[in-house]
Amino acid sequence: MKKLIQILIAFLTITQISFAQVRIVKELDSDWKFQKGDFENAFQTNFNDSKWEKVSIPHDWAIYGPFDKEIDKQNVAIVQNGEKVASEKTGRTGALPHVGSAWYRNKFNISAVEKGKKVILLFEGAMSEPQVYLNGKKVGEWAYGYSYFYFDISDFLTEGENTLAVKLTNKEFASRWYPGAGLYRKVSLIIKNKESIDQWGTSITTPFISKDVAKVNIKTNASVENGYLVTTVFDADGKKVSSDKATTKFGTQFDQNIKVENPKLWSPETPYLYKAVTQLFIGEQLKDEVTTRFGIRDIKYEPNKGFSLNGEITKFKGVCLHHDLGPLGAAVNVAALRRQLTILKNMGCNAIRSSHNMPSLEQLELCDEMGFMFLAESFDEWAKPKVENGYHRFFNEYAEKDIVNLVRATRNHPSIVMWSSGNEVPDQWGEEGVKRAKWLQEIFHREDPTRPVTVGMDQVKATMESGFGALLDVPGLNYRVHLYEEAFKKFPQGFILGSETASTVSSRGIYKFPIVQEKDKQYPDFQCSSYDLEACSWSNVPDEDFVLQDDKPWVIGEFVWTGFDYLGEPTPYDEKWPSRSSYFGINDLAGLPKDRFYLYKSRWNKKEETLHILPHWNWEGREGQITPVFVYTNYDSAELFVNGKSMGIQKRNTATPQNRYRLMWMDVKYEPGTVKVIAFDKDGKSVAEQEIHTAGKAYKMVLDPDRKTIKADGKDLSYVTVSIVDEKGIPCPTATNQLQFKVTGKGKYRAACNGDATSLEQFHLPTMKAFSGKLVVLVESLKEAGNIELTVTGKGLKTATVTLNSTK
Ligand code: GAL
Repeated sequence: MKKLIQILIAFLTITQISFAQVRIVKELDSDWKFQKGDFENAFQTNFNDSKWEKVSIPHDWAIYGPFDKEIDKQNVAIVQNGEKVASEKTGRTGALPHVGSAWYRNKFNISAVEKGKKVILLFEGAMSEPQVYLNGKKVGEWAYGYSYFYFDISDFLTEGENTLAVKLTNKEFASRWYPGAGLYRKVSLIIKNKESIDQWGTSITTPFISKDVAKVNIKTNASVENGYLVTTVFDADGKKVSSDKATTKFGTQFDQNIKVENPKLWSPETPYLYKAVTQLFIGEQLKDEVTTRFGIRDIKYEPNKGFSLNGEITKFKGVCLHHDLGPLGAAVNVAALRRQLTILKNMGCNAIRSSHNMPSLEQLELCDEMGFMFLAESFDEWAKPKVENGYHRFFNEYAEKDIVNLVRATRNHPSIVMWSSGNEVPDQWGEEGVKRAKWLQEIFHREDPTRPVTVGMDQVKATMESGFGALLDVPGLNYRVHLYEEAFKKFPQGFILGSETASTVSSRGIYKFPIVQEKDKQYPDFQCSSYDLEACSWSNVPDEDFVLQDDKPWVIGEFVWTGFDYLGEPTPYDEKWPSRSSYFGINDLAGLPKDRFYLYKSRWNKKEETLHILPHWNWEGREGQITPVFVYTNYDSAELFVNGKSMGIQKRNTATPQNRYRLMWMDVKYEPGTVKVIAFDKDGKSVAEQEIHTAGKAYKMVLDPDRKTIKADGKDLSYVTVSIVDEKGIPCPTATNQLQFKVTGKGKYRAACNGDATSLEQFHLPTMKAFSGKLVVLVESLKEAGNIELTVTGKGLKTATVTLNSTK
């Protein structure tokens, strides 16, 4: 018996090795050499890069700054914003040094065995216009910085050391926001047999779903003469569900149908994931193995009913997100993405739109796991320009290739429920644009017959006339709340999506008096008021969207602009230096919630109570002056007290959109002390209360990490929120102390961010001013496990320390 077990173990080990060896994915993440500038010979193997900076990938060369007003200064009229006369836009692309060329070089080894294999070099994004060289020879190039692309480099490889060199070039006037710069997403080598499954060769759909059974269809492209395919489906616990062997190929494609009994459906509430392991055999020999995670879920878009997920009418409670991660720039980071999604989940958000380009694969994986529906977008420009050096330069040559790669690389993510071929493209004007809309939509349909396509339209009148809006699967309206009714009547689809909504502007913790609902409002300090009443000439406050979402069953949801502030596009201060990042976010650039977070939470998160008071209550000098108090809550009515005196009961009503969604006490006069709110249920019973207090002098800091234990992988991050408080622990909402950070132990200081859109402090330097009493420090793990200590100091403040730890 013992012998048998030994043989069995030996056999298993051998098969495991052979399984493991059929396909190796090597992430090229470390030991890169980087240099900004152009170098004629940097593609050559023997080029001397010893003096270049050593970096790891993902990397964003521009995020380290410094901010500079002159960088990518654009003297333009932003036509989409209704501007007719050109003016100087300073922080439009973030004022960070992303313009210019740079080189990355990496040396990696290929063994004798690997030399005989098929090797794919995969880039998940390279900003931008990558030129790729291997061992002194040009392998290929791409154009769009957001695309995933790959090359078969088998014939370029040599046994032993290989030298990869990548040149990237970012032109000025090429973007409307901070694009980032460099190899900001993963680069990997996929080493497999010559007879193998194609790159992105698996396509999984679930064409039939009932309570008892789901049909899982798996199409696999494999460029092999003969052979057969075995696909096994496993449930989330790793238990085998069923399996199928396919011996017939149709062209280069195997087509399998696998039965899953009692399927567990994927949804934002229950993001259940299955796994399909596909093995390619030739004779007895296993040649390749690919694992694909997928979900079983049903999506439908129907006239007058709208969107349903697994048979249930579901509205998109979505946000648009740019790809940058604030202080990390564009360099993709799983911990940063997960934190964003955790914050959004808590707000009750159920959907993300990757505006206006391809999402990172990491973000899609997290959305699959955490339960977010996804609207994956491709372009901000087609053939007609928005910016001088934008995507229109590449459109004719690349649009199809870019869409093909987007769909093939991401189609198995259950989170994706819709594609978008464009955002506010100027091609909405004119006949050519109608043809382009159709052409692009048909490419999406050819590549993925299961999901519809939208375009975020701002020229709604024009698209009603031209047929542009009528031909789309999903008509997406960007803003234009006054045109929803007309669009619904004129467009044939029978529903409307708020593909982009609100664009309300605010700065965390900043309030302006007297409060006014105004468009394009500017203040001398280049901040926006957090009473959430300010928007742009083309946009609106959240409540106006809520009315449509609630009263029109044919509105299938909204994607709010934006979930988080992002670098660049500092509207309404596009012309004002030093504004360099957006004011649109529901959360600020540091990921700290603005008041609006609670307004959305109060309607989106049905599981938790929301009872949030604004503004803060530190208004020295405003004693006796009108200082309105708003409460964002899911309760219908509440009573407000200032220092124990009732300010009366407010109840939701329909007088204005604001009255319907906020409780507002407009006549409160400021006196320092305590503001307390008591909320009532439908029967008038008091059910919840909340209070805020006037803070005393800044005294110490409270450090609050989002995660105390992180992975010792040199990439993971803990986001530590630093709040300045008084002696009693009451947050000091106006504190702006300059703070210093020190990390010791098995971690390092990575960056800080305070959410102030006008701050020119560099994120990676270990000092920053607090903004509205807070900032966030990012602590990064090392590859060694152990304790990590963050110490924060500030003049006049008690030093604060927090201990984190990292584990393997
Ligand atoms: C939209 C546009 C977005 C952003 C936004 C700001 O028109 O699609 O990219 O510019 O306006 O309000």
